[in-house]
Amino acid sequence: MSENKNKFYVTTPIYYATAKPHLGSLYSTLIADVAARWNRLLGKQVFFLTGTDEHGQKIVQEAEKAGKTPQELVDSLIDAYKDTWRMYEINYTKFMRTTDESHVKAVQHWLKYLQEKGDIYKGFYTGWYCTPCETFVSEKGESTKQPACPECGRSTQEVSEETYFFKLSAYQDKLLQFYKDHPDFIIPQERFNEVISFVESGLKDLSISRTTVKWGIPFPDDSTHIAYVWADALNNYITAIGYAQKGKEEEFNRWWPADLHVLGKDIVRFHAVYWPAFLMASGLELPDHLLVHGWIQIDEKKMSKSLGNVVDPVVLYEQFGADAVRFYLMRYMAITQDGNFSTADLEKTITADLANDLGNLLNRVLVLAEKNSINFLEPPQVWSESALLLQEQAQAMLKTVSEYMERYYIHMALGVIWKFVNQANAYFHEQEPWKLAKTNSDDFKEVLSATSHALRIIALATWPIMPKKMEELLKSLGSAMPQEGNIIEKLISDEWSKEFKFTTIPALFIKPDGSATQLKSVDTTDQFITIDDVAKVQLVVGTITECEAIEKSDKLLKMQVDFGEKGKRQILAGIKKFYTPGQLVGKQGVFVVNLKPRIMLGHESQGMMLLAPDAEGKFMLISAQEEVPSGTRLR
Ligand code: MSP
Repeated sequence: MSENKNKFYVTTPIYYATAKPHLGSLYSTLIADVAARWNRLLGKQVFFLTGTDEHGQKIVQEAEKAGKTPQELVDSLIDAYKDTWRMYEINYTKFMRTTDESHVKAVQHWLKYLQEKGDIYKGFYTGWYCTPCETFVSEKGESTKQPACPECGRSTQEVSEETYFFKLSAYQDKLLQFYKDHPDFIIPQERFNEVISFVESGLKDLSISRTTVKWGIPFPDDSTHIAYVWADALNNYITAIGYAQKGKEEEFNRWWPADLHVLGKDIVRFHAVYWPAFLMASGLELPDHLLVHGWIQIDEKKMSKSLGNVVDPVVLYEQFGADAVRFYLMRYMAITQDGNFSTADLEKTITADLANDLGNLLNRVLVLAEKNSINFLEPPQVWSESALLLQEQAQAMLKTVSEYMERYYIHMALGVIWKFVNQANAYFHEQEPWKLAKTNSDDFKEVLSATSHALRIIALATWPIMPKKMEELLKSLGSAMPQEGNIIEKLISDEWSKEFKFTTIPALFIKPDGSATQLKSVDTTDQFITIDDVAKVQLVVGTITECEAIEKSDKLLKMQVDFGEKGKRQILAGIKKFYTPGQLVGKQGVFVVNLKPRIMLGHESQGMMLLAPDAEGKFMLISAQEEVPSGTRLR
């Protein structure tokens, strides 16, 4: 167990670098970010690790499809991860890649050490292998019947090879004893029970090398064998902080063992059985907790590339901004269960919880202060009973939030914070400060001060989930994030003695107008449409007369487009990475002109530009072979 109580080492799974991140990858990463930020609030030193899993058969297959080498494929995807994490305010300490030389060498050191110790030995394995899951489903045994993979349901292949085994069977009793001694090892408990029954049913030695795969970490002194991708990947949690690297012993001892590994329910066995056994064999301590979350589903189906129902976090960001998406995922996807994602629910959340409940309360305080020329506000000498009650409610809320956050039940913690948001709203309405402003200046100021204290507490407690918006909120009250110590502990015993300096700001949250693209599952079965359906979409050629970049966005360009007799329109497109504004002015493109206008980052788009992605993912504009009059409708 982690002895240094003032540090917090948290990890995400490392993502297969076969595609850009999707909403599921964002979800795992967000949970880790929230846990990291919460522990920063508790005054701890934090190391937050994320990264990519870059070896194995899956990568080879994707690379072949893309006409690239495995190295080229993984290199081409890293920026998409880093950009998406930056966009979503994921504040990681290190981004780990399993192709990093330091990782490769440390894994080889680890393999050699276990070989010398006798925990890894050479043998022969024949079994049914699931390539998409990178795992042997079962040993071949007597049966010749090809089983389906229990994880993904796809068919398996018979693979027979000389292999190195890890002596997993030798750790069965030790693992069971460890689980018994650490009843909080896996959160939530239901997942723990599944793991215990799996181990109790008997563990066989684990094949941890492949000769059929070439893209991976070669075994030391036997390079025909490549380390099984999980034996390679799991070790990232120790190699990233200096395991088996000269001069990094202190760093390693400082951070290891991990306080929390965040992972999805599909990869529990690897983290709860293999990983602890690897660590036991290596003489290393075991992590404190595994936090196992469910899946984000679309129409009750797991979101995945193969089902074609993947939601792109970048599109969501452009429509709703990072903090609103963070809030929705953390509040309405219960960590313990699968959760259904829908744009309509996200929009409802922004309107009700964020704009109405929180944004509006702040706005009313700021407007009342401004109207009554209060820029600076001191707390009253003595608080009245109603304000003291609000203060007690805040303390009770913070205590319960701390308890939930200790188990990483973020959705429950947010539920409790939002109950307090409602209590603060109720207090504000009952006191009717807009009337007091005219009758009793002291009472009026007290209500403003009490509500501002409540808002400050809400902002600090919600900061791990919505860092940027909550910092904006604090700033509008003339307050800032405290820099040191255990902020939550201090808040619980706070006497409400803050002074406030108000600055009016634009609304914190904009209510969506319902025009965002409904991100629903893509039906992959071909469906025919009629000629009338085709006629519904007005595709028109336009000439771009002006173009500028939208500063706050990594993707958007804003264009003024001339459609001849049909007039001019402003249209936004996510092509900043591929074109400079200068390259577009004077060019013709094809636009959907009868699409309902929508607001993106505060700018209205009155149509949609048609684009064609090439194999590299570069989006190019489409035009007629020769210039045609602006406003020509496509037929
Ligand atoms: N490379 C392995 C992990 C190695 S860790 C040493 C892997 N990668 S993955 O890219 O397939 O998945 C990474 C994480 O994303 C897993 O925790 C998985 O549960 C999560 N998600 C992938 N799709 C998901 C959803 N639809 N919903 C929520 N999370 C899901 O496994």
